[in-house]
Amino acid sequence: MQGKFITFEGADGSGKTTQIEKIKKYLEEKGHKCLLTREPGGSKLGNKIREILLHYDGEVDYLSELLLYMADRAQHVKTIILPALKEGMIVLCDRYIDSSVAYQGYARGLDVEQIMELNKIATFGIEPDLTIVFDVETQTAIKRLGETKDRLEQEGIEFHQKLRYGYLELAKKFPQRISVVNSNLTIEEVFSEVKKILKDF
Ligand code: TYD
Repeated sequence: MQGKFITFEGADGSGKTTQIEKIKKYLEEKGHKCLLTREPGGSKLGNKIREILLHYDGEVDYLSELLLYMADRAQHVKTIILPALKEGMIVLCDRYIDSSVAYQGYARGLDVEQIMELNKIATFGIEPDLTIVFDVETQTAIKRLGETKDRLEQEGIEFHQKLRYGYLELAKKFPQRISVVNSNLTIEEVFSEVKKILKDF
């Protein structure tokens, strides 16, 4: 694979999306060709799945939810991520395998090992070269979310605490791949931490 694959993770309200846009601009100014994509919804089919995942108002079984994320992921890797990596691009992906482990595993309570196995199948074994986790205090994240929340963002405080714990556990398990950034600071302070990580990488 010629390209580089960087993923971004964190709770809703971690400031992740703002940072990713800045990172893309920064890398492009340095002359890199970047593809910015996201999960769920990075592919055409994935966008349909995203609609269900975020806005379906009936009951969603946890396992069904997990498998919908996996279906989105398989389509995304095959049709968007792999072709871009083969072209030598830097693929910047807003959420990937660790979201399933943190949200469906640590926060929802599904089996973490099983989710990791499913991730391997859904990604054809394609792991990120680097993952940045934006770590934010639960209260700050909830405050940043404000009033307009989607299906997952409406979960209670305990869910958010488990989620945060899950991401930090993942970072401990995979220190080579995952870097944690303190996202409680200002946008510029967080970005300067991110730049340090990118430079080392
Ligand atoms: P999105 O609006 O993209 O949130 P954000 O801007 O915070 O990334 O919504 C994605 C939601 O889907 C988010 O709440 C996290 C959740 N999610 C999972 O629960 N599992 C997954 O595997 C993925 C990729 C996302």
